[in-house]
Amino acid sequence: MRVDRALALSDQLDGLSETPKLDCELLLCHLLNKPRSYLYAWPDIELSQSQQQNYTQLLERRVAGEPVAHLIGRQGFWTLELEVSPDTLIPRPETELLVEWALQQFSDQPVRVADLGTGTGAIALALASERPGWQITATELHPGAVLLAQRNAERLGIHNVQILAGSWCAPLSGRYELILSNPPYIDSEHICLTQGDVRYEPRSALVAEQQGMADIIDIIHQAPNYLVKGGWLVFEHGYDQGGAVRAQLDTAGFQQCFTQLDLNGHERITGGCYASER
Ligand SMILES: C[S@@+](CC[C@H](N)C(=O)[O-])C[C@H]1O[C@@H](n2cnc3c(N)ncnc32)[C@H](O)[C@@H]1O
Repeated sequence: MRVDRALALSDQLDGLSETPKLDCELLLCHLLNKPRSYLYAWPDIELSQSQQQNYTQLLERRVAGEPVAHLIGRQGFWTLELEVSPDTLIPRPETELLVEWALQQFSDQPVRVADLGTGTGAIALALASERPGWQITATELHPGAVLLAQRNAERLGIHNVQILAGSWCAPLSGRYELILSNPPYIDSEHICLTQGDVRYEPRSALVAEQQGMADIIDIIHQAPNYLVKGGWLVFEHGYDQGGAVRAQLDTAGFQQCFTQLDLNGHERITGGCYASER
């Protein structure tokens, strides 16, 4: 089978994936170990017997619903290529908003930052890659995800991130100018859990009690013990949770509470500043 014929098989994903053509390109690039430009520069290259067989198998698994990121073991986030696994969430583009906010809020002066529930290490590693002078601590409860984030840091040669096992703030020591988190925030009954990539991601990375708010509330209660005076706590949350997160921050004594919208116009990140040191 030629490369162009292999790409044309993307019609099998019509109606099943939002990005059929891109999915096939990524699967082929993975098998050939080439960039996407190669597929269009050399459309008439013949796949070997084993490449063809592997491609057909991967395409079948994609048709059955498995995320492309799990099939190829990789996902782009910010400027980084991260290893992913079924142990945690596949990093999403919306989460880059947290990274952008942190980079804009703090200039190049060295700050201590914590990323709670780091998963693949996405937020912590993106920040570390942009700000080598920052000291970043990432915490994660799932042992498989801890190892995954550590492998990502090592493979990317990022040395200013420390990845610690444990629940939310428990592994932290000292005080931080900024605490960020993209915690589980989906209600256990939400319809989205039955659709798309999330079916293959662990519930421990997605679902929280109290209409998705339980982990956010836990973190809001813990964080003041680890923030410097004037330190910031900022969350990613569901599109309809901005008001609830602001109310929780407000009740806990946070000030200057704000929410920012994502590219789709949905409330996506909310944070506040803790003016005193607890
Ligand atoms: C929504 S995922 C976010 C992963 C990553 N930060 C990202 O943005 O791609 C939430 C992560 O929190 C972790 N997690 C869940 N409960 C936790 C807890 N009590 N303490 C630390 N991490 C936890 C999950 O294992 C998962 O990796």
